[in-house]
Amino acid sequence: MFSRMQTKALPGFREFYPADLALRTHIFQTWRTVATRYGFEEYDGPPLEPLDLYAAKSGDEIVGQLYAFRDKGGRDVAMRPEMTPTLARMVAARANGLKKPIRWFAIPQLFRYERQQRGRLREHFQLNCDLIGEPGPLGDAEIIALALDVMRAFGFGPAEVRVRLSDRRILQALLLGAGVAESQLAAAYQAVDKIERSDRVGLAALLQAGGMAPEVTDRLFEIAGLRGMAAVDAALGRLPDGEAAGTPLRRVVEALDAMGLGEFVEVDLSIVRGLAYYTGTVFELFDAGRTLRAICGGGRYDGLLEALGGVALPALGFGMGDVVLAELLRERGLVPADVSTIDVFFAAVTEEDWPFVLALAHEARDAGLRAEYALGAQPVGKQLKLADARSARLAVVIGPDDRARGEVMVKDLAEKRQEAVARDQVVGHLSRMARM
Ligand code: HAM
Repeated sequence: MFSRMQTKALPGFREFYPADLALRTHIFQTWRTVATRYGFEEYDGPPLEPLDLYAAKSGDEIVGQLYAFRDKGGRDVAMRPEMTPTLARMVAARANGLKKPIRWFAIPQLFRYERQQRGRLREHFQLNCDLIGEPGPLGDAEIIALALDVMRAFGFGPAEVRVRLSDRRILQALLLGAGVAESQLAAAYQAVDKIERSDRVGLAALLQAGGMAPEVTDRLFEIAGLRGMAAVDAALGRLPDGEAAGTPLRRVVEALDAMGLGEFVEVDLSIVRGLAYYTGTVFELFDAGRTLRAICGGGRYDGLLEALGGVALPALGFGMGDVVLAELLRERGLVPADVSTIDVFFAAVTEEDWPFVLALAHEARDAGLRAEYALGAQPVGKQLKLADARSARLAVVIGPDDRARGEVMVKDLAEKRQEAVARDQVVGHLSRMARM
């Protein structure tokens, strides 16, 4: 009746075998630990949203990658490709009742129909941390410090990870000063965002086709090439009132220095971010060797809550994906070693011993121990092989002779020692040993 299934998982979608899921759990736990250390509360939203939520606010790149369809009720919907519009809507709906600044985090699974490549899949999990209601640069520093502390908690230092930092207010001042028209700013940002991944001649041709003069495109590439706060300050100093545009970024850099995180920071004006809603500080985290794609990206989006919910609240945050992060953890040997799946394995010597195995294993589970036994009569040697395969630290062997004395044999499989323990004390004994 049933034909054998020939289907595979869809390209870009992962199957998590237990070892893969163990790494995912490690990532999620570390994310949660550090986010809660910063006083962030966890929230979630719907995985399926009205298409309109993204159409206007996320920018062409993400909209072109949507998993979108018409549902059975005739609504145009999309699987969420990012969390920020959902967050902005949720906060705007209850803005009055929430104490500012709002510190919220989420770990959504997101969907983008991207060309599959190293570090890019069609689904990923993303830690989102956002701070809402805080306009000042200490808020920006707080969010960047949180992203960096997550990386530190995984075991990465400034030799492995860097934050590349910029500010759209600076980029805007410099671009306008270089002769880019207001109406060309969005196209200019898109070009800057693509500089590292595309060829400059093509980008320049595109901008010039949109009406930008060749000398202006040259200046745009020079601006995107600025590195370090001193170079940025010097460029701003050549503009009338230019210095003020640099103040927020300068404060962010100073605050990160004061936190002892200065070694991670690189001011880099080629960072602008692909999403349309950013208005100020923008940043991305990369592996220091830059062999991988961005681990994390974020920034300030002071206009989005007003656009989506009519509530004018400043906001900023970041998204950190699990895909590039897991690659980096593997590459640097920072994946925690396989941990044993059980604490204690129970084995029976004869048929008559099975009821005792069942009773004791059940007591052990009630006491919070992770316990397993073979599901059918087998030679003791074979049962202990299964204990070994599970990396059990302890085994209890129950046989007629020990039982007659009111005892069972407890084996410490790691230390290769064994001792007889009274039947009524064995669970307490195991609990103490498992904690050692
Ligand atoms: P994003 O730069 O589009 O930002 O994504 C953030 C991170 O998610 C990326 O740096 C990358 O690690 C991961 N990521 C994105 N797309 C994929 C993919 N197809 N496969 C694997 N990993 C991926 C945002 O989504 C913003 N909403 C972040 C944000 C939050 N901004 C403010 N608050």
